Amino acid sequence: MAGYTDVVFRALCTSFGCDLCCTEMISAKGLTFGNAKTADYLALGEDEDTIAVQLFGHEPDRMAEVVRLIANRLGPHLRCIDINMGCPAQKIVSNGDGSALMRTPALAGRIVEAAKAVSPVPVTVKFRKGWEEDTCVSFAKVLESAGADALCLHPRTRVQQYRGEADRSAIGEVKAAVRLPVIGNGDITNGESAVAMLRETGCDGVMVGRAALGRPWIFREIKAAIAGTPYTEPTLSERLNVAIRHAERIEAVKGPHGLVELRKHLPRYLHGIRGSGALRTRLNEAKNAAEIREFLLDSLRNITI
Ligand SMILES: Cc1cc2nc3c(=O)[nH]c(=O)nc-3n(C[C@H](O)[C@H](O)[C@H](O)COP(=O)(O)O)c2cc1C
Repeated sequence: MAGYTDVVFRALCTSFGCDLCCTEMISAKGLTFGNAKTADYLALGEDEDTIAVQLFGHEPDRMAEVVRLIANRLGPHLRCIDINMGCPAQKIVSNGDGSALMRTPALAGRIVEAAKAVSPVPVTVKFRKGWEEDTCVSFAKVLESAGADALCLHPRTRVQQYRGEADRSAIGEVKAAVRLPVIGNGDITNGESAVAMLRETGCDGVMVGRAALGRPWIFREIKAAIAGTPYTEPTLSERLNVAIRHAERIEAVKGPHGLVELRKHLPRYLHGIRGSGALRTRLNEAKNAAEIREFLLDSLRNITI
């Protein structure tokens, strides 16, 4: 997820059982232009052995060039290439990238073919239910014919953005229409909804986005639900200690700028905690991870779940 799934957050998700974490989406154009910030997205975390790299772009030749570049740079640490054909953001679709490719399926197919021709690892595609109409089944077939190795569907249209409910039936329809592994995404918020997604759609795996923010232990919950084993929600102290780990790691990896980025994450760890308003304000004023640790541990005396 752009702005969130950096090396630090991915490491937390992995530690709680996430099987495959993806980089933030990376501009194919930015990489070929040697943009240093873009290249930073390819860094592996301390405990990360392999990563899935997500790219966006609309030019088949450039996609091939970038896949080659990434494969050379990451070698055995590259697990798969995922191509973003789902992003609804105006600044992305106005260039013909992200979900705009659902309006140009032939071009989408050529992009997958170009990536596949040079990729030493599987090429997957993340897409939506459609642009405005439901076109995901025909789109999935184009991607399959082009050689995609797996598909991930977020079943809302671009026009819907994030409104309304994810339409699980569309995932079932895509699964029934292709022979590829299909990963279901959208509105998974706990173990129960992950199991329901698998059962109702026949999909092969699930992808979690927003519900992992401030709750990276959701992967442990989902795995327990799938395995049918007991799961205990972390205590308040355990939750806050995950937030502390997040703060300490992001400071170690990114320095003071990391703490600015952390401001997006911290309130999410406090979601649903009564009396955490004053703590949020205090955390925003923290000068370093040591202060964040101090404020969070201090708060354990005053707040409850
Ligand atoms: C802030 C934000 C950033 C996102 N960035 C990406 C991204 O870079 N690549 C991607 O494929 N999807 C991205 N998504 C979409 C999610 O991966 C996911 O498809 C969507 O949020 C629905 O799943 P969820 O209900 O589990 O969040 C993003 C979503 C949000 C809210």
